[in-house]
Amino acid sequence: MSVNDYQSIIDFVHKKSGIVLGNTKSYLIETRLATIVEQYKFQDLKALERGLNIAPKQVQEAVVDAMTTNESFFFRDNTPFDNFEKAILPELIEAARAKNSPIRIWCAAASTGQEPYSLAMILLANKRLWAGLKVEIIASDISQSALDRAKAGKYTQFEVQRGLPVQLLVEHFKQDGTNWIISDQIKSMVSFRKVNLLENLFSLGKMDLVFCRNVLIYFDVPTKSKVVSAIQKIMNPNGFLMLGGAETLLGINEDFERKDGYRGLYCLSDGQAKQTAICA
Ligand SMILES: C[S@@+](CC[C@H](N)C(=O)[O-])C[C@H]1O[C@@H](n2cnc3c(N)ncnc32)[C@H](O)[C@@H]1O
Repeated sequence: MSVNDYQSIIDFVHKKSGIVLGNTKSYLIETRLATIVEQYKFQDLKALERGLNIAPKQVQEAVVDAMTTNESFFFRDNTPFDNFEKAILPELIEAARAKNSPIRIWCAAASTGQEPYSLAMILLANKRLWAGLKVEIIASDISQSALDRAKAGKYTQFEVQRGLPVQLLVEHFKQDGTNWIISDQIKSMVSFRKVNLLENLFSLGKMDLVFCRNVLIYFDVPTKSKVVSAIQKIMNPNGFLMLGGAETLLGINEDFERKDGYRGLYCLSDGQAKQTAICA
């Protein structure tokens, strides 16, 4: 079959998640959806494709889930986490103390949990700095299977070897056969939710820092714009937005400005921050 044979699956995934599967090879769709065809007893992939728009919600969600790319690792790209510890966290703490409010951090495409858990490990190491304040890490994703893995906090040897310093492995994980399980203390610092970035985000409440890394790359420009303005609406006026190394807001949103010297880090421009403060 050619890619065009799966056009309605491609369109469906785009409509539901924003993910553009444009150049996806047909074998990728075939291999990723094979288990769904079997599990839900469709005759073949073509039958699944024909019935997709009227299929039960769980089948539709399973198709989207299967087409997500959940690649992640601890302290991915390092610099965003160094910047979090050295520059962002001190500012968040100062602002939270001034307002006597909690610090709210959101990992908007948290996949299998390495990103929010990396932030939690940094927070714990700096506990004295935020003593007396409440810090929340909310981690979300559209993929239920990724969230299930994140909540379990169980990682393979390969996964803990990617980016996680040995001393943090020893400090925060216990071995379980060939796997490693993250400590209850770190787990308890993160709450996981299923959130589709295309849907209304207001129920999440206001955020001081949004990590939205390596997900915009899967969207087209109109979807990137829509998602970034939805994020903007739930950010506190002096909040920060962290994107992935290959992502930019150039041509996507003019209300944010890049923080000089901090790759991928954005904050609302002065005018927008004032506007947001008035509406808050
Ligand atoms: C490559 S992972 C990025 C994980 C992590 N942020 C990182 O940088 O390591 C991209 C994640 O985006 C999620 N995703 C894709 N479309 C989404 C949507 N519309 N809403 C929420 N999450 C989405 C996928 O399920 C996947 O787990």
